[in-house]
Amino acid sequence: MTIKSIRRIFMISCFFNVPLSILLIYQFVWSLFKLGNNSYTIISLAELFLYISSNIILAVIMKNLHLEEEQLLGMYQKGEKLNDLIIKNTPSGLIILSNKGIIEYLNPAIIKILGSDEALGQNILDIDSIKNNFIYRNIVSALAGKSSVMFGLNYVTNITKENRVFNTYIDAVVNENKVSKVIIHIHDVTKEVELKNEIESTFLSTIEALAESIDAKDTYTGRHSSNVLKYTSKMCEVLEIDDKHKENIKIAATIHDIGKIGITDSILKKPDKLTNEEYEIMKDHPVIGSSIVGKIHGYKKISNIIKYHHERWDGRGYPEGIKEDEIPLGAQIIAIADAFDAMTSNRVYRKSLGYERAVQILIEEKGRQFNSELVELFIDVLQSSGEELLEIG
Ligand SMILES: [Fe+2]
Repeated sequence: MTIKSIRRIFMISCFFNVPLSILLIYQFVWSLFKLGNNSYTIISLAELFLYISSNIILAVIMKNLHLEEEQLLGMYQKGEKLNDLIIKNTPSGLIILSNKGIIEYLNPAIIKILGSDEALGQNILDIDSIKNNFIYRNIVSALAGKSSVMFGLNYVTNITKENRVFNTYIDAVVNENKVSKVIIHIHDVTKEVELKNEIESTFLSTIEALAESIDAKDTYTGRHSSNVLKYTSKMCEVLEIDDKHKENIKIAATIHDIGKIGITDSILKKPDKLTNEEYEIMKDHPVIGSSIVGKIHGYKKISNIIKYHHERWDGRGYPEGIKEDEIPLGAQIIAIADAFDAMTSNRVYRKSLGYERAVQILIEEKGRQFNSELVELFIDVLQSSGEELLEIG
């Protein structure tokens, strides 16, 4: 029973209270003086007593209900004030859309980001900067209620013309399977991204220094790591793969031999041919390298490329003997770049085979050691890059 219905009953009872009270008092007085009948007087008195006490109880209940109602109202008003305080003072931008996409509310933070509140009342999908922004389709999805994205927080990153970076969450408010509002939360994360870029740049410098130290340790390879990176980068330029994949392949190329840190100098710097036992130890370097890099958060794919850079297309490589497309694309590319640089570099135990001979060997190894298509692509890249790559060595 709600407070409203209880109050209604009380009001009805109040309406009858006055005549009923007069009637009961009259009945009591009348029985006292006129009848002289004691038992009737006692019954009238009891009726009067019961009536008064039930009214007192009802009044107490009403008083408590009223207090409770006041308390609830107070709490609600307090909550409202708190919400208002948070929304107005949060550094995050907040846009509230109607289910048609009309901008109904902008909090002070978003007005500061946008520079004005002119967008209020406009349909967000008609605003040019939104039309050209990739968050457009997320807003459409949330408004249409067709995508599952609308039921959760939808995270997108938006880089503005001023090079400020925002994380945007698009959240649909759904009532009875219908979108009632769409809330867009915008967080300025420019500083965090700058810090992340700085950390990544420091990390890449460390990686490069590490690669140089590997080359310095392996005195016969000289600038091997940087050469492999140059060949690999040229290959990445012509491959239709996403930027993140390219970045991973290039980092892997730079440090593909990092596992040589774990190989003893007596083997690494041996001028003569390695014995079978020594060669077996040398073959551990991809796994050692993969294990080192695999410990870095987010470097699992790079770690895999390093692990398989000595696998062969025909499955006769190491460490696992995987073949063809089981080998990560990055490892297939680095295998070609690695072999080509080894063949065209002067080493203490062997003179450079020369460009023509190295290309010929790559062609001979198509479908055996290397992916045929990648070899063809590599040769195309070599020929089109001209002196830029031929000067490597
Ligand atoms: Fe290697």
